[in-house]
Amino acid sequence: MLIKKVLLDVDPGIDDAVALCLAMFDPQLDVVAVTAVGGNVPPDQATRNVQAIIEQLDPPRWPRIGVASLPELGLPTRSAQLHGPDGLGNSNFQVSELQHRHPSEKVICDEVRVAPGEVTIVALGPLTNIARAFQRDPALPELVGQIVMMGGTLSGPGNITPAAEFNIYCDPESARGVFRSPATKTLVPIDITHQVSFGYDLLEKLPDETTRAGRFLRRILPFLFRSYRQELGFESIRLNDAVALVSALHPELFEIELAAADIELSGELTTGATVFDRRRHREWRTNLAVATKVDIASVRDHVLRGLAAAGAASQT
Ligand code: RIB
Ligand code: CA
Repeated sequence: MLIKKVLLDVDPGIDDAVALCLAMFDPQLDVVAVTAVGGNVPPDQATRNVQAIIEQLDPPRWPRIGVASLPELGLPTRSAQLHGPDGLGNSNFQVSELQHRHPSEKVICDEVRVAPGEVTIVALGPLTNIARAFQRDPALPELVGQIVMMGGTLSGPGNITPAAEFNIYCDPESARGVFRSPATKTLVPIDITHQVSFGYDLLEKLPDETTRAGRFLRRILPFLFRSYRQELGFESIRLNDAVALVSALHPELFEIELAAADIELSGELTTGATVFDRRRHREWRTNLAVATKVDIASVRDHVLRGLAAAGAASQT
């Protein structure tokens, strides 16, 4: 059975937390590190949330933790707080003091360097840490196995502005740096992740309270349902990051196309937009693969089965 080395870069965020739960209890994955990045919440809160998630879930193997720091231009203030002020549905988890504090970008460089070509980076937040890791170690893009990024838009509207998706919008300079790097990249845009919705019946399907995963998920998910209903008028939620994680584990459930994409850095209305060169005689260099279709039912099933497995592996 192939054990796949993954590094998750996250800005928890409830959907980040669900993706972490899936990954840390998946027997086919070796989660070498979880690196925090500011996005849904400020950097310090993102780091605390990563630690809280790992402590609450207590997975079979504890990953290294990377500490988040602010992007050069800071983070945008987010009107709709889908994930709550603390990023985890106001769960206010107790967190112990993080002993060995290493910057996220250093952890990324270290973990890729010890296993050249083997690590899949699953980027589920702004691309600040990945870009910084590439600046810190210019050879790194060629040493990463691949990067799977949840972010951007393919042809649909943005979610933080009409033109931009949140992860890209938070740090467009870093996103451009990563898009233009020679690393092997797959983009999973919000057009795709938004197709996989979860109704209220998800709450009945979660592992029960006798499991660490069940207790944790039942603490954070109800808030997301309330947010989607109150902020967006939806009677279901999207777990964008969990879908992006599934694309890294089961690429056969997605259709992808090679594409030439770049990021708008300074449009009055379009900052953070993902721009594709779709001209008949494309002039931009092909620089990534982008998911264009998804097997919705199968992906949803993989998420539900992964959460059930997390419950089975976290009985207490
Ligand atoms: O636009 C959705 C993305 O922004 C998700 O990763 C969510 O967690 C937030 O980071
Ligand atoms: Ca996220």
